[in-house]
Amino acid sequence: MNKIKIVYWSGTGNTQMMADKIAEGVNAAGKTAEVLVVDDVTAGDLQDDQAFALGCPSMGVEQLEEGVMEPFMMDLEGELSGKQVVLFGSYGWGNCEWMEDWVERCEKAGATVIGGEGITCLGEPDGDTNDELLNAGKALAEA
Ligand SMILES: Cc1cc2nc3c(=O)[nH]c(=O)nc-3n(C[C@H](O)[C@H](O)[C@H](O)COP(=O)(O)O)c2cc1C
Repeated sequence: MNKIKIVYWSGTGNTQMMADKIAEGVNAAGKTAEVLVVDDVTAGDLQDDQAFALGCPSMGVEQLEEGVMEPFMMDLEGELSGKQVVLFGSYGWGNCEWMEDWVERCEKAGATVIGGEGITCLGEPDGDTNDELLNAGKALAEA
């Protein structure tokens, strides 16, 4: 698979910046990143992809965004078995419980979360987070 999808929801652009950085890592590793807003993707679009990234900030009370991302995840859960995923998202003030829950949910559905945990950042990604995101993109390209 030469194309690697990076599917995300972002309200104010922070998680979008994270998606773009993962894409840079994918492209640097010689594959082609497709950065897609979750509104434009169905779970079925990922059926044939063995490795991809999913991004969403902490919304609600430590939850995925409920209008689009949560229904997308509910559809995707049945198709995650055996897949490798990078999870990422920005947060504002919480303890990253939303990401821990998301990792657990994907693992229960049979996916491997690359790196063993999600990539989180307070607000917009800084230098260290950008390095982590680049490396995640490279790992995805090699998955
Ligand atoms: C409706 C709403 C609910 C939020 N709930 C949480 C929360 O439970 N925990 C948290 O850490 N941040 C929360 N945030 C803050 C966002 O996660 C944070 O602003 C993040 O950087 C937004 O990412 P984005 O720019 O990709 O939309 C919330 C923001 C909004 C608008």
